[in-house]
Amino acid sequence: MAINEMVANRLAGSTVDFFGQHPRLKYMFFGGKGGVGKTVMAGAAALWLAQQGKKTLLASTNPVHSLSSLLDQNVFGRAQPVTGVDKLFAHEIDTSETIKKSKEEISEKIRWFLKFADIPTKADEFVETATMNPAFEESAMFENMINIMFADEYEAYVFDTAPTANARRLLGMSKVYNLWVNKMLESRKEAQAMRLSLSFRKKEEKDPLLDYLVSFQGRMAQAKTLLTDGERTAFFFVTLPEALPIAVIKRFIGWFDDFGIPVGGVIVNGLIDTSGLSPETSPFVLNRVEMQRGYMEQIYSSFRDVRALVPLFETEVRGVAMLERVAAALFAEAGPAAPGVA
Ligand SMILES: Nc1ncnc2c1ncn2[C@@H]1O[C@H](COP(=O)(O)OP(=O)(O)OP(=O)(O)O)[C@@H](O)[C@H]1O
Ligand SMILES: [Mg+2]
Repeated sequence: MAINEMVANRLAGSTVDFFGQHPRLKYMFFGGKGGVGKTVMAGAAALWLAQQGKKTLLASTNPVHSLSSLLDQNVFGRAQPVTGVDKLFAHEIDTSETIKKSKEEISEKIRWFLKFADIPTKADEFVETATMNPAFEESAMFENMINIMFADEYEAYVFDTAPTANARRLLGMSKVYNLWVNKMLESRKEAQAMRLSLSFRKKEEKDPLLDYLVSFQGRMAQAKTLLTDGERTAFFFVTLPEALPIAVIKRFIGWFDDFGIPVGGVIVNGLIDTSGLSPETSPFVLNRVEMQRGYMEQIYSSFRDVRALVPLFETEVRGVAMLERVAAALFAEAGPAAPGVA
């Protein structure tokens, strides 16, 4: 079957159709295997949303400095307007700063708690064990991301997620957090009651750790509500017409379905333009085209919601002008048809 026939047979609509069916869509995420074009697609989607008139934030939680190089502009550390595009802002989150701040906050609370409970241990050891692990860094980044979402300064948010920081893990963590926080809350309340009954002092007027836990739990619950709301949130998965990237997103989509996280659909990137092919075309290119055709069949039989086909461009994607070309393919009205792909 030729790719255009597969396109005609597809069941779900284009990206534009999806956006039309989800007018309240506000949080968009792009996931997939490393190097498939997540940053490029997030950039193109954010550009398109801004051009539709929405004040849009393109944010990256990826520790590699990808947005600055995509936009040819330094957007590291804080949200900045993107030159030449009205209503578009970009923010490459400073991972080490976020983690540092989070560590400071935690140490402060641990110190307070040890003092409160009269535990004569060096706080540093506690702080080390609580913060020296990758899960802590990931959760610090997650908190940072949800803080950006809650600040609510934009009409649309596009997150370029790091390959490992997928929402499944994050939401899985939120379950663990909940158990942990509830347990902590219980023992904090007990400790507080005991302290009150033992002392003649009046009611403790302030308990920063308890306050923090309560507010943290509230924010996690709110994050979960936002991230599982199919009207406001959508995760798009980017793949190349190749075996491994397809296998990766199959797994991701399975996980997301299990967790009730809304999947917006699949974006296929890197399709070779076949319009100029002739018998003289190099066997290398002809083989690649044949390989892609085979994987497109697999993609259409595996995913019901292929939203767009984006061609492989003659250069890498950098700068707003290139992003506009990507956006044209990503938001092609007629649905997923890459120019010249037959
Ligand atoms: N359709 C395309 N045509 C040409 N080059 C592309 C295309 N899509 C992506 N690229 C280039 O491929 C490289 C990888 O793209 P990108 O950085 O968006 O991938 P990624 O999935 O975000 O990678 P990572 O997992 O490292 O974050 C970049 O150099 C980008 O410019
Ligand atoms: Mg990237």
